[in-house]
Amino acid sequence: MPYAHITGWGMAVPEKVLTNQDLSKVVDTNDEWIRDRTGIRERRIAREGQYPSTLGADASLKALDVAGLSPRQLDLIICATSTPEHIFPATACLIQDAIGADKAGAFDLLAACSGFIFGVNMAAQAIRSGSIQSALVIGTETLSRFVNWKDRNTCILFGDGSGAFVLQASDEPGGVLSAVMHSDGSGGDLLTLPAGGARHPASDFTVHTGMHYIAMDGKEVYRFATKVMVQATREVLDQSGLKIEDLKLVIPHQANLRIIETAARGLKLPMEKFMINLDRYGNTSTASIPIATVEAAEQGRLEPGDKIVFVGFGAGLTWGAAAVTWTGPLSVEHKPNIQREKMAARFRSFIRRSIRRVEGFLNPKELD
Ligand code: COA
Repeated sequence: MPYAHITGWGMAVPEKVLTNQDLSKVVDTNDEWIRDRTGIRERRIAREGQYPSTLGADASLKALDVAGLSPRQLDLIICATSTPEHIFPATACLIQDAIGADKAGAFDLLAACSGFIFGVNMAAQAIRSGSIQSALVIGTETLSRFVNWKDRNTCILFGDGSGAFVLQASDEPGGVLSAVMHSDGSGGDLLTLPAGGARHPASDFTVHTGMHYIAMDGKEVYRFATKVMVQATREVLDQSGLKIEDLKLVIPHQANLRIIETAARGLKLPMEKFMINLDRYGNTSTASIPIATVEAAEQGRLEPGDKIVFVGFGAGLTWGAAAVTWTGPLSVEHKPNIQREKMAARFRSFIRRSIRRVEGFLNPKELD
């Protein structure tokens, strides 16, 4: 049975920074409150023309560059997102087209902030089954477009960004060792985006009542999160035969520093064992774990052979964790030129669109 290794990682965040100070000018809050209660100092906000797919494509190309893998070698793309570009087509398909992953099946996965862990687990299972060789898992968000900037309970928490992993098959032991995925739909009402789906399609009423914005019971989500972070981490450690002291790093979902501190106490792990960067990005939902991983790698906190745990929670309710032996890129004979691949992808996409138009023009009655 092949092993599923994480061989590439990349991130992309908008340039625009929104500080707590900036927020205090639009809503009744202040820097001290936000830092004390959440640990967040600033977050990134997408500019016009920046979407989950554009950020996701940028993060993906960086991940492919690290892995030394051409987009055309990808078999599968899973895009975890809480803020899909459309209900359909899937954001994964937009990214597939943008990077030119012509061979890959692509779909979105909706498990809110746990989505990236669920996606990594699904991709690892497909690789271990032998049905595919390589996969791209993306977490990408523009939450700023779904936040009510008048609601101080939610608007202080979220930010935009994207992160991606490449997973590849190898006979060398390691990679994703174990993973758990959990859900409890009875808590679905605690964190929701009520309108825009089939129950409350867009209407004057939904727009006027703000039903297209994130709604949250912060206290209940907090209570749930502190409980499941510890539980899910213990589960994956048990399943992979690891002990807590074997862990080099825990990379948690970056929602609130106090939630992570409570989890650290529960696991009896010092805070130095946790990767934290929520102070600079806020909660980027599915993107938070891959963004934190990229920064951990850049800071030299991840070496091949290190045992790490990803753990997260989110709306649904959902929660999960994965235990991993960190690998790094597999050896490759020819490293692809990712920028050239990106241009070739745009060209191939243009040709396919043109052919479709010409065929439609020449054979307008083909369906008769
Ligand atoms: N600025 C200033 N004051 C604020 C505020 C803000 N942004 N938001 C709330 N307050 C006020 C409240 O009105 C309340 O005032 P009161 O005591 O006069 O009624 C007080 O601060 C305490 O509010 P409370 O809601 O009890 O704060 P909290 O300590 O529970 O922190 C959250 C609120 C949202 C930070 C916290 O509950 C949380 O992080 N929950 C989890 C959210 C999460 O992670 N969601 C994403 C899941 S993926």
